[in-house]
Amino acid sequence: MSQTLRVDLGERSYDIVVGNGLIDRAGAHLAPLAGPRPLLVVTDETVAALHLGRLEASLDAAGLASHRFVLPEGEASKSFDRLERLLEGILETGPERSSVVVALGGGVVGDLAGVAASLGLRGLGFVQIPTTLLAQVDSAVGGKTAINSGYGKNLIGAFHQPKLVLSDTGTLDTLPRRERLAGYAEIVKYGLIGDPAFFAWLEDQGSAVIDGAGEARDRAVRESCAAKAAIVAADETEQGVRALLNLGHTFGHALEARARYDGAVLHGEAVAVGLALAFALSAELGLCPREDAARVRRHLRAVGLPASVADLGADLGGADDLIAAMRRDKKVRSGALTFILARGIGDAFIAPDVDISALETVLAGEFAG
Ligand code: NAD
Ligand code: GLY
Repeated sequence: MSQTLRVDLGERSYDIVVGNGLIDRAGAHLAPLAGPRPLLVVTDETVAALHLGRLEASLDAAGLASHRFVLPEGEASKSFDRLERLLEGILETGPERSSVVVALGGGVVGDLAGVAASLGLRGLGFVQIPTTLLAQVDSAVGGKTAINSGYGKNLIGAFHQPKLVLSDTGTLDTLPRRERLAGYAEIVKYGLIGDPAFFAWLEDQGSAVIDGAGEARDRAVRESCAAKAAIVAADETEQGVRALLNLGHTFGHALEARARYDGAVLHGEAVAVGLALAFALSAELGLCPREDAARVRRHLRAVGLPASVADLGADLGGADDLIAAMRRDKKVRSGALTFILARGIGDAFIAPDVDISALETVLAGEFAG
């Protein structure tokens, strides 16, 4: 069983198909998109061992030839060096503009393959087959692609929309629980941005989403994709409303930077703390009921996510270090710190110039505890 959603972007519109076992039917979904040249399947070593065989069997069954490019797993693969090697490898196969790059993996594979697809022959076709919860509910949808620079994460990239997203929720069965939890933080984010009923449903069904393999998990992926698709359709290149998707991320990116991206703090874990802090800051500014901020922390902790700086258990320096890291975020405009704040659960908004003393009060509380 699968269900299909649409990302409405005019001639760049595409489907997101969500369902358990989809990889085994990937060939049939890809056949209408594949040009005359072989598909260019990019994956990492871990995902290759678990899921590439099934994908290739399905492509074979549909009569689709493919080349495979298997990267080392992990954030380090989002580098110039890996991008160059991938592009050279793709060019060696003699692609045409109609060739399609297929990203099978998490956000790392999707981001690197997406940049390669945006650059190869000035733009190749691109399909995402995300295999982490984070990629299924966030990074595979919306067309942001990027690699990292010595100056920071995700600073080099392009908007390059996929032609199709195939989210096989069955692949999540092999994903470690810590990674599932990290992806779940992004699911919570959609409820907090604009859907209080979805947040309330997550309070009830969170464990079934994270640890189950049934309809609750599929529904959470679908609802998250639908929420993201609506925002991306309204603002593809983040001139306005798409910034709402950064709820929790100004804090989260700073926490990740302080943790030096060495795996001690996962992106989703930093985002979880960031969500709690965005609500704490909103409450401190008198914008949001304190009970809503408390409810956010309660839910994050109930499922096992960190909800305060101390919960991360890493040496992140002090409040000043975190504020300095926030000032270096690529979303800082004219030196002003922009946050996504909330009037309550499900009512987020963009706050372009936040009172720094309220931020200092919230962080002083975090680092004192
Ligand atoms: P990831 O791609 O590193 O995957 C996490 C780990 O899970 C890896 O070790 C991977 O090999 C493994 N894995 C993947 N699928 C698996 C499966 N089904 N079973 C077992 N193991 C599996 O990390 P991620 O959390 O998916 O993505 C993080 C990346 O996404 C970051 O680089 C971040 O910057 C990027 N990102 C991009 C966007 C965007 O819009 N482009 C949005 C959010 C995050
Ligand atoms: N992950 C945030 C965005 O796609 O805009």
